[in-house]
Amino acid sequence: MDNKEKVLYDDGTHKCVMFSFDDESVEDAFLSVNQYLIVQNGIGVLVDPGSEAVFDELYEAVSQHVEIDKIKFIFFSHQDPDVSGSIAQWAISTQARFIMPSLWIRFMTHYGFMELSRVIALEDKGAKITFGEDFLQFVPAHFLHSPGNFSLYDSRSKIVFSGDIGAAIVETPEGYKKVSSFEEHVKHLLGFHKRYMGSNKLCRAWVARIQGLDVHMIAPQHGLVFEDDDVKYFLEWLKELQCGSDYLEELY
Ligand SMILES: [Fe+2]
Ligand SMILES: [Fe+2]
Repeated sequence: MDNKEKVLYDDGTHKCVMFSFDDESVEDAFLSVNQYLIVQNGIGVLVDPGSEAVFDELYEAVSQHVEIDKIKFIFFSHQDPDVSGSIAQWAISTQARFIMPSLWIRFMTHYGFMELSRVIALEDKGAKITFGEDFLQFVPAHFLHSPGNFSLYDSRSKIVFSGDIGAAIVETPEGYKKVSSFEEHVKHLLGFHKRYMGSNKLCRAWVARIQGLDVHMIAPQHGLVFEDDDVKYFLEWLKELQCGSDYLEELY
């Protein structure tokens, strides 16, 4: 199996695909990056497409699953270059609308993106949009880590595309990039979350929202996917995590 692509869900009409394209010029950085595609009846939603460096490979891979001009939405969870760096390339190549936190729209021109009329702005409380027979829900994830940040819940596959939440700095296995032992995986989560995430209070707010949904999988933008029981273990862990401003004295 090509380690750069994995179908996470497929019921014949609705499919979710995970891609893992890294900027090979920074291979030693050890922060593997995942990009995602949702397709229903030939209509696509691209999730956190990533940096300019991976655009060509991702475009090619995505086009194997959906006609590029049938990509209806491209979702950017937050402003970082590993999420949004290729926005100008996707603007040229697609007819898509760009869904992103309203807080970051004004910064996108610095990536060369000028077509602001194509943006659907997410206000702080998030949004829910119909997608085919189902819905996509943009769940607030502010300060986890970005001040304006959302996770995306796909009601059909029951996958939460969680952006940097759940990200791990870990050497990825061959084949399916999935957590096999949560206990083992914790050490790869800890450093990233402790420093990049805002505070325990914010973690709890997000966990409460996610626990209110029927979730089968959490798919982060870096590292490994959490499935079944590991979803529960991860949420329990995050709920108790001390991070960010909880360590104010150490930081200042
Ligand atoms: Fe980020
Ligand atoms: Fe990231």
